[in-house]
Amino acid sequence: MPEGYYSGDKPNPNLRAFVEQHIKERPYDPETNDYDVLAFDKAITTSKDNAIYGIHGYWSKKPYDAIRQYIKHFTKPNDLVLDPFCGSGTTAIASSAEGRQCIAIDLSGAATFITKHVSYPTPQERVIELLRLLRAKIDHDIQPLYTTTNDQTTPPSPNGYTIASGQDCMNRASSCTRRAGSTPTTCLRKPGST
Ligand SMILES: C[S@@+](CC[C@H](N)C(=O)[O-])C[C@H]1O[C@@H](n2cnc3c(N)ncnc32)[C@H](O)[C@@H]1O
Repeated sequence: MPEGYYSGDKPNPNLRAFVEQHIKERPYDPETNDYDVLAFDKAITTSKDNAIYGIHGYWSKKPYDAIRQYIKHFTKPNDLVLDPFCGSGTTAIASSAEGRQCIAIDLSGAATFITKHVSYPTPQERVIELLRLLRAKIDHDIQPLYTTTNDQTTPPSPNGYTIASGQDCMNRASSCTRRAGSTPTTCLRKPGST
């Protein structure tokens, strides 16, 4: 996102200039405008089972693929889409997927923050680099939390997934024979046992 186009929970000082620039490039005159698109009358089939929807929760979040179909129907490439209640940024994502520009507004600073980051994702290499730095800083403190001793792992070694409860520990490593099922909520291991 170009500098100055995200203003958190404050009014954006560059919004007017952005719209004026857009109108200059794509003049709009209500007197001569011949916009005549019929209502969208198809059933929308979509799924919430995708990475963009699942990245985090947001109340009344819509699958972006559904919004995308409306945008494609009601607007043309490079048109400007306005969502003044953008929430988690679904309209912004859908607009850019369809080659439209979008102004996304929300009362909530959390919503605009999420929208900024889902619309303009950080490059993967940068995310990996930051995760490495973070890990180097906290590894020493958190690694013991992911380490168990039991008859499956001698000497103690890091697990993929451990839930600790009181003094007991429920080991969910796939090799653990004490699991109570494929998605265990209880562990057969008794406190004090190996
Ligand atoms: C139902 S959510 C939108 C969810 C969105 N469609 C999505 O897919 O994530 C409605 C949003 O409207 C925002 N909102 C409510 N009143 C508002 C107002 N007066 N001005 C701007 N945003 C407002 C809320 O903060 C909330 O994020």
